[in-house]
Amino acid sequence: MEPLGGRHVTLRPFREDELDLWLTSLQSLGRAFPAGLPTKAALRGRIRRGHRMIGGEIDLAIEVDGRVVGGVQTQRPHPLPPRLFQLGIGLFSPQDRGKGYGADAVRVFVDWLFRAHRAERVQAGTTPDNTAMRRVFERLGFTERDTILVLGERHLLYAVDRDDWRTAHTC
Ligand SMILES: CC(C)(COP(=O)(O)OP(=O)(O)OC[C@H]1O[C@@H](n2cnc3c(N)ncnc32)[C@H](O)[C@@H]1OP(=O)(O)O)[C@@H](O)C(=O)NCCC(=O)NCCS
Repeated sequence: MEPLGGRHVTLRPFREDELDLWLTSLQSLGRAFPAGLPTKAALRGRIRRGHRMIGGEIDLAIEVDGRVVGGVQTQRPHPLPPRLFQLGIGLFSPQDRGKGYGADAVRVFVDWLFRAHRAERVQAGTTPDNTAMRRVFERLGFTERDTILVLGERHLLYAVDRDDWRTAHTC
């Protein structure tokens, strides 16, 4: 795949030499992984998927000015219909948050899921106190659909459907 370009960010597969950076950055995010952090071997396997969407899962690095500032991915922690994608995102350093990178990365990635992978719906969960994440979703046209428990913690499930995305973003 060609790198996906946004206003601020470029999305492209992680490289093997970025494995340690990715692992330590995820360790610093901590709380964002209620089910536990992925192991180094698991991350290596995810890097080796490269640009391929396998079983509905892909990871892309978020790059700004040639520097990896975070990651965005689709995940299938449990079975989902084939055209339903579950999104996750993390900007590794607090210095890179609040600058529009998160909103830009989600917009570019979701647009690509609708265009290149014929998504019918993209969904994502977050905790009620994650104002920045909720604001990103709401600004891009996701709506709150449900409350779910993730290992006993309350999460809000947001989603956007293909037709609504097309109307709002002309994909
Ligand atoms: C959540 C996250 C992806 C948002 O990305 P971001 O680049 O920080 O957010 P943006 O700069 O694009 O801001 C998007 C909106 O949120 C608002 N916002 C940003 N940070 C905020 C904060 N700390 N508190 C309140 N609002 C905030 C912005 O003002 C903007 O609102 P606007 O559209 O009205 O202008 C990023 O902060 C992050 O990775 N956080 C740590 C990991 C995490 O929480 N991941 C998600 C787990 S579900």
